[in-house]
Amino acid sequence: MKMPIIDRLHEDHKNYIKLLALMDTLLAELKKGSDKGYRELYLIMNYMTRNPDIFHHPYEDIIFEELETIEGVDIDEIEHLKAEHNKIYQESNALLDELDAVVNGHIVEKDKIHELAQQYADSLREHMNTEEGKIFPMINDKLTEASWNKISGSLEHVNDPIFDGPTSDEYKLIYNQAVNDK
Ligand SMILES: [Fe+2]
Ligand SMILES: [Fe+2]
Repeated sequence: MKMPIIDRLHEDHKNYIKLLALMDTLLAELKKGSDKGYRELYLIMNYMTRNPDIFHHPYEDIIFEELETIEGVDIDEIEHLKAEHNKIYQESNALLDELDAVVNGHIVEKDKIHELAQQYADSLREHMNTEEGKIFPMINDKLTEASWNKISGSLEHVNDPIFDGPTSDEYKLIYNQAVNDK
């Protein structure tokens, strides 16, 4: 059954929180001097730049734009969240580039990876907190059936390559670490 889009976005957030928690664990190990974990971090960011950045955030942008047409909504706050989608996109891709280099044997500054990863995780967590705490309740409250009918054609359901059943052995590895090994 097709999940209503706002429920799906909420489920996505819960999944991203799990991946960010796994990132925290991997980064803590790396900071202790371990050289393991870069591959997993690379896979996580590979996913983050292909799922949240390509589907989740653009879908939110479509819903946010509809929300902005409703009287009494704080447009500045919504615009700020849309701008954060761009910022998060830049941060995730910058981090993926560094991780791509490290898994391919290039010399990289490990401190730089840690810094970029921390920045990315902080940005995404804070962003999701605002959405969950303020914006999603506003969407549920203000968007009418007519609003949803207007935009739903642009919000096709897309299978998540990790959490809807991993599509590769490597994503399965991430799934098991993020979900099962808790
Ligand atoms: Fe968002
Ligand atoms: Fe979101």
